[in-house]
Amino acid sequence: MAANDIKKISVSELRLGMYLVGFDGNWLSNPFWTSRFLLASADELRQARASGLAECWIDTSLGADVAPVAPARSTAGAAPVAKRRRAPPQAAGALSMEEELQNAARLCQTARASIFSMFSQARLGKIADTHFCSALVDDIVRSVERHPGALISLSRLKYEDDYTYMHSVAVCALMVALAKAMKLSDPDMREAGLSGLLHDIGKARIPLEILNKPSSLSDDEFATVKRHPEHGFEALRHGGVSDSVREACLHHHERMDGAGYPHRQAGKAISLMARMTAVCDVYDAITSDRPYKRGWDPADALSKMISWKGHFDPTVLSAFIEVVGIYPTGSLVRLKSEKLAVVVEQNKQSYTRPTVRAFYCIASTRAIPAELIDLSGTEEDCVVGSEDRDRLPTAVIEKLWAGELYRER
Ligand SMILES: [Fe+2]
Repeated sequence: MAANDIKKISVSELRLGMYLVGFDGNWLSNPFWTSRFLLASADELRQARASGLAECWIDTSLGADVAPVAPARSTAGAAPVAKRRRAPPQAAGALSMEEELQNAARLCQTARASIFSMFSQARLGKIADTHFCSALVDDIVRSVERHPGALISLSRLKYEDDYTYMHSVAVCALMVALAKAMKLSDPDMREAGLSGLLHDIGKARIPLEILNKPSSLSDDEFATVKRHPEHGFEALRHGGVSDSVREACLHHHERMDGAGYPHRQAGKAISLMARMTAVCDVYDAITSDRPYKRGWDPADALSKMISWKGHFDPTVLSAFIEVVGIYPTGSLVRLKSEKLAVVVEQNKQSYTRPTVRAFYCIASTRAIPAELIDLSGTEEDCVVGSEDRDRLPTAVIEKLWAGELYRER
């Protein structure tokens, strides 16, 4: 660490990915037990900003630096988002993939708690507090911009009691990555993330015994669930979000052929945000494990979605395939080295050479210490094909692959 790597900045300039080495001022006001650590969660950021301390020190050799603020780009047709916190974009690569996975795991925990609280308020008929959502979307945008695969792959892991909340995080991360692939403007990318985060808020008005029912729904129950887009649209009426976010909430179950609900809209009559949300929503839903069904492998899910003619906007779906790749993030693959691995990040130069987390040796039929391998950086190993997820129980995959990251649950 060189002396010129240590920089004094104002606490308001702090953002995720910075390596905090101390506060300038009364140390009793320091909100953390240790002041030397990588700032990796929205909670820590909030605590630091709430400390009342004006300045702090960061080490730019161990974390992100203060980046220049990018000039705002205008967006035709995009509604402004109120109270958006403008943070400078995080330089790509400021965190390693390993660090980003840790960051994403903590971000998932924070997001789950915040979304749980928002749903609880909405369940009581209160106006959804969407103020924290803009800050959360900013954190998610920065994570996805650094390493899109980290949050997308971690948010696929859902537990019975948190499906709805983690589904919101997953769809948010997928929407941000999709907006980026579609080269939407920075404000539109944030609108997309917010649409993903809030698209199912109307489910807060659906009785929990129906929402979490482990068996198939009766016709009446299904009719009740199908009202959630309209409930959500209503709940966001005074929520301080733009019309395009409310539109995405209302129409994310419409289909291009007009066979969706609630208004049987068709084609381009469905807003772009709603068409994008439809793709991300269905992909995450069918690849997630539920109490009554096992999630599909991401590669199978994509081919099924391509085969459902009339359901999705083909242009949006093509861009989405670019996001998740040939061996989609989260899919189980077999390596030439006879290891099983999970894809954690795509490599844009070669979709057949993603970054993977290897955790199982096929030859010895034993678990091996989880190892992150960037296949674009080695000639010795490569993916030889997709592997059937039924080969290993989901619990084993989760334990071996992400268990370390989820230890704090
Ligand atoms: Fe929905």
